[in-house]
Amino acid sequence: MLKIGHRGASGYEPENTLRSFKKAIDLGVDMIELDVHRTRDGRIVVIHDETVDRTTNGSGDIAHMTLAEVKELDAGKGEMVPTLDEVLDLAIGKVIVDIEIKDEGLAESVAEAVKKRLEGGAKPEDFVISSFSENELETVAAHANLRRILLTRRAPQHAVAAALDLGVWGIGAPSESTHGESVDDVHRNGLKVFVWTAHESDEAEAIRRCRDIGVDGIFSNFPDRL
Ligand code: G3P
Ligand code: CA
Repeated sequence: MLKIGHRGASGYEPENTLRSFKKAIDLGVDMIELDVHRTRDGRIVVIHDETVDRTTNGSGDIAHMTLAEVKELDAGKGEMVPTLDEVLDLAIGKVIVDIEIKDEGLAESVAEAVKKRLEGGAKPEDFVISSFSENELETVAAHANLRRILLTRRAPQHAVAAALDLGVWGIGAPSESTHGESVDDVHRNGLKVFVWTAHESDEAEAIRRCRDIGVDGIFSNFPDRL
């Protein structure tokens, strides 16, 4: 089962910062998960929301800000919002990097950023691309041959048809909507199941249950509990 640091080790450090990714790597994860958006000047930055409001000391839409403006902000404990390249510099060769595409229209730029790393010696297995958007996952596949995860907010078995159509590696779903029969159904179709536990009131209990039902990986804010 893959141990995945959700937004790094975001239970311990400010989410989606270099500090959080370093902590996850130190805790021995197999993979880190991060979220990407694009700035007004076309740079890919690692941040969960469309705005900087919740996770920094600033406010505004990322799509309306330049990278320089985003970089002025404090994302927690003095950390800056990192670019995708900065996280890749830190993590490639140490852990698998799962890049979750949040914005529509970002897939080609993400695939190109990964392809540059492949040209520089990284391996395709060093990366996973995930998204709730089927369009984005389709576009990624048109540009690069990478493992992909289709995300859903429903029970994973409901995404099987779309996942098979897209030819993805696996399905990602919230732990609270994932049960044993659903996992078995997805496995029978030759797909992996990944769950995130971030919204459960008792993450440790959610992790135990998800292990028991045989998921292939868990995204956790506290990856040392995996
Ligand atoms: O990749 C799984 C999970 O990160 C999706 O939900 O809202 O935490 O990006 P969210
Ligand atoms: Ca995410």
